[in-house]
Parts: sequence; structure tokens; C-alpha cells
Amino acid sequence: METLTEKVLAQLEETSDKFWNVSKDSANFLNMLIRIHKSQEVLELGTSNGYSGIWLARALEETGGHLTTIEYWDKRRDLALENFKLCGVEDRITSLLGSASDVIKEKLSDKQFDFVFMDASKPHYLEFFELLHPLLKSGGIIAADNITSHAEKVKPFVDEISSRKDYQVQILPLPDGMLIARKI
Ligand SMILES: C[S@@+](CC[C@H](N)C(=O)[O-])C[C@H]1O[C@@H](n2cnc3c(N)ncnc32)[C@H](O)[C@@H]1O
Repeated sequence: METLTEKVLAQLEETSDKFWNVSKDSANFLNMLIRIHKSQEVLELGTSNGYSGIWLARALEETGGHLTTIEYWDKRRDLALENFKLCGVEDRITSLLGSASDVIKEKLSDKQFDFVFMDASKPHYLEFFELLHPLLKSGGIIAADNITSHAEKVKPFVDEISSRKDYQVQILPLPDGMLIARKI
């Protein structure tokens, strides 16, 4: 029987173009990766209406971890809060409103994460990476979406992280191209 969460996710998939949600395949992959990695502290940049957040939080139910997610568009964040409640994952999620760079600097600078999902404004990926590098534990993972769909915009980030000796990097042929980096 289909659970309420599955129904909510299926409904959100019908409007995914409007809310720029990650593909179902990519969401499933991230969910699986968090379970395999046993991630505890996950950070998402770009909540939208909460579609990917629900997938991430469902994996965190197994690992016992927590998701912090950032969105600057208040109406989208309100929808996400509703969707998190509908799916019963609201206690596993801290939703922060504001520009990702400002929120990281002002509210998260003393935190450590072991998994980051980057899915906010593509031209800012390099800036996000520079802010997040000190907050990512060794062995931690960065997953960044839209690597092939927005190749020009994310190029400065891809060039930088791929050239670094302290990251192992692979771009996966998921629908919009997903970069996975492991901090050594
Ligand atoms: C691609 S969508 C995120 C989709 C979401 N991860 C999902 O798959 O359900 C990007 C979201 O990031 C938000 N956003 C873009 N740039 C941002 C920034 N610099 N800070 C915070 N939010 C941002 C947009 O308003 C948009 O809702």
C-alpha cells in the first residue's frame, strides 16, 4: 500500500518543473548514499518546496541523523515546512530562511557537517564550496546537482574541486549531472 509520504512525493513530482526539484533518480541516489555513508549531519543548500529534503530526511531516519536546509524564497520555504509535516519528518529537519552564504557565515560557522547537498544558485557553487570546506569533516561528502545541465555556470566550482588533492571527485551521469566529492 502507498504511504502518505509516497503520495506526497508523487504529487510533488507532478510540479517538479515549477519548483526546480531534483529528479527522482537523483533523489533516490542521494537517499541511498546517505544510508551507505551513515551520514549524521546533512546540509542542503536550496530547499524549494522540500521534495529533496523529504528524501534526505527519510534516509536520516535510518542513520539517526539531522538535516539543515537553507532557502531564501519565503513562500517556497513555507511550502517545504508544510510538506515536511505532512511526511512526519519535521523533527529531523531545521529549515533556515535566508541567502545560503549569509546563513552559513552567520548561523553555521561553528557547525560540522558530514554530507552537503548543493542545489542553490549555480553561479555561487564556488563561493558555497569555499565557505563549506572548513565545515566539512574529513571523509565527508559534497553532492552538487546540475553539473551537466548548467555546465558553464558551475565550471569555476568544478575546476577548483577537481584540481584539489584533498578531494576525490566523480561526476555521475544522473539526469542533470551530479558531482560527488569526498573530502580526504
Ligand atoms: C533547484 S531548487 C532546489 C530544489 C530542491 N533541492 C529539491 O530538489 O526539491 C533551488 C532553490 O534554491 C533557492 N536558492 C537559490 N539561490 C539561493 C541562495 N543563494 N540562497 C538560498 N536559496 C537559494 C531557490 O529559491 C530555489 O528554491
